[in-house]
Amino acid sequence: MTSCAWFVDRYGGPERLQLRGRDDSPPGAGEVAIRTAAIALNFADLFARAGVYPNTPRPPFVPGMEISGVVEAVGPGVADLSPGQAVVAVPIFGGYAERVVCRASSVFPLPDGADLAEAAAMPVAFLTARYAIDRAQVRPGETVVVTAAAGGVGTALLQLLAIRGAKTVALVGSETKFALCRELGADRVGLYAAAGRPDALADNRCDVVIDAIAGGMFRPLWRRLARGGRYVLYGFAAASGKRGVARLRALRELSAMGLLVPFAFVSSCRTLVGFNLSLLPDRLTELREMAAGIFGEWQSGRIRPVLGPRFDFERLPDAHRALASRKTVGKIVVGIRSGS
Ligand SMILES: NC(=O)c1ccc[n+]([C@@H]2O[C@H](COP(=O)([O-])OP(=O)(O)OC[C@H]3O[C@@H](n4cnc5c(N)ncnc54)[C@H](OP(=O)(O)O)[C@@H]3O)[C@@H](O)[C@H]2O)c1
Repeated sequence: MTSCAWFVDRYGGPERLQLRGRDDSPPGAGEVAIRTAAIALNFADLFARAGVYPNTPRPPFVPGMEISGVVEAVGPGVADLSPGQAVVAVPIFGGYAERVVCRASSVFPLPDGADLAEAAAMPVAFLTARYAIDRAQVRPGETVVVTAAAGGVGTALLQLLAIRGAKTVALVGSETKFALCRELGADRVGLYAAAGRPDALADNRCDVVIDAIAGGMFRPLWRRLARGGRYVLYGFAAASGKRGVARLRALRELSAMGLLVPFAFVSSCRTLVGFNLSLLPDRLTELREMAAGIFGEWQSGRIRPVLGPRFDFERLPDAHRALASRKTVGKIVVGIRSGS
């Protein structure tokens, strides 16, 4: 048997994605084979395709961080999953395929009747958002600034912060995204230029910043942070360009912010946290607990993934172009028709 997958044969733009068939291999020990129903896109997929994401395999490789589907077969040693079960999986790489073989530890069973497109859009966005909020130790009533607030992780953050009782300031790249941010619980919304304006933030200060962008946002938002404030940096969308991350510019920014001078940093009384979800597979119990909590809240209707435009599997490169355009909101999902 064969099935199709999108390969990156050479790092580069969306045109580097190539669809082709390959032989189906049986799952090995501790592995699961899944017939894919839906693939959710992540901004990190664009970095992986361009070859600037940490731990990206050398080409040829199949990108794709998260999928949903139905278990086709399980390998030796896998006791808690069985063929026919609906699941969501976070393989990190390898998800852009009609059939995915991945470690059972990255697979989560879904309740009966779960919407597979929504399910695919849940794990990375909500796990990232939950982890960022926990790392920032957000308390009820605190003011939290969220950048890229209408995107996949951003829309998850707004919902979880509303549940926590925080006051959120949503920053986005276009006014067309304001209404969605308000609908998801943002107290204030603004364009990025507002980051440098005192009136944009309640009391001119915020307690927490949860930032996916870095670049030109980093310094003004760091300065708006109250003493005792926490800055969680979990992405660097603005620091990336065609030639990867602009390291020299980033170094100049850090220097201007006083982060390279121990005295200035100590005196600032602020916390800077960097994190990446790749930490979680090393903390399997924590990951499983967090995932169970998120899926439980989804099932109870307290949270929902915001779905953006949908694409057919055959148009996956166009989905990459759409995500890079900054015009989309929520999660882009790529659907695979059964039997294709
Ligand atoms: N640390 C982790 O474990 C982790 C996990 C998941 C995601 N992330 C990071 O979180 C961020 C959001 O990821 P996502 O998958 O949910 O994507 P997304 O937010 O749905 O899409 C990216 C958004 O970033 C904003 N953006 C700002 N500057 C940009 C630029 N120079 N180029 C393109 N977009 C830019 C755009 O919104 P506006 O136009 O409104 O600004 C765009 O819609 C990314 O930086 C990603 O790398 C980190």
